Amino acid sequence: MLLPASVLAQNYSGDLSCLGGMCHSDKYVEYKNSGHPHQLYHNNGYTPPSYTWPFTSVPPLPTVNGLPLEWSDVHYVIGNYYWKARFLDETGAIITGESGDMTQWNLQFDNWSSYHPGETMQYDCAPCHTTGYTEYGIMPNYPNIVGGWYLDGVQCEACHGPCSSHVVNSAILTPGGLECGECHYRDRQNRLIWQDGFLLDRQEAVELYTGGMTEIACEQCHEPHRSTVYDLGGIPSNFDCSSCDGHSPEPGKKMYMDQVMEGVDCIDCHMPYMDISAGSVNQYKADVRSHIYGILPLPIYGYENTYQIGDTTYWQLTYTPSGDIAKITLDYACLGCHIDNGIPLTIEEAAEMAQGFHVEPLVSINLTAANPPVIIPPDGGSFDFSLNGQNNQSYELRIDFWSDITDPNGIVTDHILFTDITLQPGETFYIDSSYALSAAAEEGAHMYRAYVQEHVWQELYDHDVFAVQKQPGSLSIDFAPYNPPILIPPEGGSFDFNLTIANNQTGGLRINYWAEIVDPAGLVDTLISAADTTLQIGSIIQLDGQYSLPTGTLAGEYTCSAFARDQITLELYDQESFYLEKEGNSSVVTTSDGAAIEMFELNVYPNPFNATTVLSYQLHVASMVNLAIYDIYGRKVAELINSQRGAGVHQVTFDSDMLSSGVYVARLTTNQTQQTTKFVLLK
Ligand code: HEC
Ligand code: HEC
Ligand code: HEC
Ligand code: HEC
Ligand code: HEC
Ligand code: HEC
Repeated sequence: MLLPASVLAQNYSGDLSCLGGMCHSDKYVEYKNSGHPHQLYHNNGYTPPSYTWPFTSVPPLPTVNGLPLEWSDVHYVIGNYYWKARFLDETGAIITGESGDMTQWNLQFDNWSSYHPGETMQYDCAPCHTTGYTEYGIMPNYPNIVGGWYLDGVQCEACHGPCSSHVVNSAILTPGGLECGECHYRDRQNRLIWQDGFLLDRQEAVELYTGGMTEIACEQCHEPHRSTVYDLGGIPSNFDCSSCDGHSPEPGKKMYMDQVMEGVDCIDCHMPYMDISAGSVNQYKADVRSHIYGILPLPIYGYENTYQIGDTTYWQLTYTPSGDIAKITLDYACLGCHIDNGIPLTIEEAAEMAQGFHVEPLVSINLTAANPPVIIPPDGGSFDFSLNGQNNQSYELRIDFWSDITDPNGIVTDHILFTDITLQPGETFYIDSSYALSAAAEEGAHMYRAYVQEHVWQELYDHDVFAVQKQPGSLSIDFAPYNPPILIPPEGGSFDFNLTIANNQTGGLRINYWAEIVDPAGLVDTLISAADTTLQIGSIIQLDGQYSLPTGTLAGEYTCSAFARDQITLELYDQESFYLEKEGNSSVVTTSDGAAIEMFELNVYPNPFNATTVLSYQLHVASMVNLAIYDIYGRKVAELINSQRGAGVHQVTFDSDMLSSGVYVARLTTNQTQQTTKFVLLK
């Protein structure tokens, strides 16, 4: 290694020397089981010893460039602790292989995945994976390594500074050591990078910062010498979010937690796995916890909360009176669990419940199924439940409460209804009841809900819900469009759909089936039609189709439905529908230079709103954007944006904390147009 004299003056001696003399033997043992020291290992063409894979085993190597990869081809192992491992070849380049090769080992999923196949990649990653890195250093045997270092992995001296200066000044983080944020970040301008459904990993420092936790340091929660991901004390066992002053509504009192979510931890919602390192568990859950903490209780998905500059997508900040901060969208906070735990939630349902999650309602209700999970057989059945509630106030209240059930297509049926009940302070109410689903009821998750509201003002106090699973019948139809939601532009367009019919029975079935589309005026057109088809046991019919709505067809909502019935008895086995929308003509404005540009509506949703609302707009070309809110006297009350924005759909969240109820006007000004929209704040 060739180094300038100034660097040589520093003296790194390696983690073992910290152990030497037994100064810190306790720390050394703990830290050897944490991720930091394992970040780079110089196996130098030999099989790495098992202690370099402390919690997993060494994988059998894959085939690369058509030949089995041998350990003699591998000179360095990167990572290999928790998420994934990558490998360097004899030149120090990252092994990437050819197209189709899998050269990254994913530890959690025990599989290989591809990493930049076909590209030649120098190893320029060492600043964060080694100790005593310098960009002027040279690793003579490895031309494809950028820079050089003293010690492999993140050793004591990476954080504490070189031993030489430590001996001179034994302060804990000596000059020359790195702060956590110097490795756990990605973007120098503190923007959060989002890609293909998730935030990228190792952005913890940026997340804390943009999430508004600017005063808190990593080591306030983390014990830096111990593993967090393997739960070896990296987060001390007595760590409790709600013990932090900021999170107790009153001194000594814990946070109000909605009863429905018993058993779910603060960090399950406030630090969801919305960042990705090696891979994802489902659409909304990857493998690294977020450090953003704040939750945006609105019905928007993560991808709707991003903006684009060039090829990079960034996480949008939410306007609050105290400044713009990053927040977690509910797809990560809630749907990550609720997509596959048998209680599927839509983003709208999650938003309904998330608003004021920790605010104890004036009147609370609790809805409990008698025998959860509730499963109804194909030929129908009923379930029992109890509903109880309580006036949490010290004064009398007049309430209404009711319940309904929503089928998997969103169709709601009312059930119980009680109006104008007077509840004394602290008084409770209690109902036992049951509900039946017939054989014809749609298979899938039905949501049974109960609500309680103030009688006169009809303000919702609380609601609760449980899921009822209806098992599939003898025959089931799946009928869905590709790439929903389908929005056909005013000039017309087409959409693709898939129809799948499955015979779940123990015998063959003779059926006829068809699919149709109904326009906003009620006119029906056929999409698919088939008579007298025999479906063998367990067999499936799969059909793809396309349908066009030319210019001139009606704007509005179209319903597409598919049906299957018995060929002989004509009994309907199953049906399923989806909806699509054809847009009306948008206004076209001509600019001074004669170019026609489309004007897009500045949308405000929800409107009227209570605490926060989302303003969205679409730009066809990058433009300077100013978005400001005015009161009805024309006084500017907030400026949400005043800077350049790229083409695409954009959203800004507006938090009305400082404003009183009333009508407000949002004005969006771009280089070419101006739009205003009124909205109503109800407090
Ligand atoms: C990832 C960065 C990092 C690494 C690696 C690291 N430390 Fe630390 N160390 C810290 C920080 C930060 C503190 C201050 C802790 C606090 O404020 O609670 C600290 C504190 C200490 C302390 C004094 C406080 C205490 O808890 O007793 C000792 C001693 C220490 N480290 C020794 C070591 C040794 C020995 C190693 C290597 C075996 C090591 N550290 C590796 C970041 C690190
Ligand atoms: C700016 C610092 C930085 C740079 C540069 C960097 N990394 Fe990392 N890397 C990290 C951090 C921090 C983590 C831990 C993940 C987290 O914090 O979310 C990590 C994790 C990893 C892991 C998973 C480790 C494990 O044990 O599971 C691998 C593999 C990895 N990085 C490879 C690379 C490669 C290859 C490069 C260069 C192309 C690179 N890193 C560049 C900081 C960095
Ligand atoms: C020199 C760069 C560097 C510095 C400085 C650094 N880290 Fe890391 N950190 C990494 C890398 C690389 C990984 C990936 C290791 C792995 O796979 O666990 C990592 C992983 C982690 C992990 C997950 C692994 C585990 O053991 O649970 C935690 C937690 C963590 N760092 C916290 C911290 C904290 C807290 C600090 C500051 C006290 C800090 N890091 C400073 C580079 C760094
Ligand atoms: C308010 C407390 C808090 C702060 C501040 C904090 N963390 Fe964490 N961190 C946690 C908790 C809690 C976990 C998750 C523990 C678990 O999964 O059980 C975690 C997990 C992690 C992980 C592992 C990721 C994973 O998938 O679980 C890394 C890496 C990490 N933190 C790095 C950092 C870094 C770097 C900083 C400072 C920039 C930091 N943390 C600041 C509380 C905190
Ligand atoms: C089931 C998910 C969930 C769990 C578990 C959860 N929270 Fe929340 N939390 C939320 C949601 C959603 C919001 C946003 C409410 C809003 O903005 O109206 C929130 C908001 C907050 C806020 C912002 C202030 C407020 O009262 O709205 C704090 C602080 C907070 N939570 C702390 C905690 C703590 C501490 C715990 C653990 C005791 C916890 N949360 C557990 C979902 C959860
Ligand atoms: C860690 C996974 C997890 C996360 C994150 C989570 N939930 Fe849950 N949720 C559950 C579990 C488990 C239950 C069942 C609890 C029970 O039966 O007591 C549940 C129950 C519910 C129910 C009631 C269904 C019933 O049958 O009573 C609703 C509604 C709900 N969650 C909404 C939310 C919302 C809104 C969020 C986000 C703010 C959220 N959940 C985040 C795991 C999670």
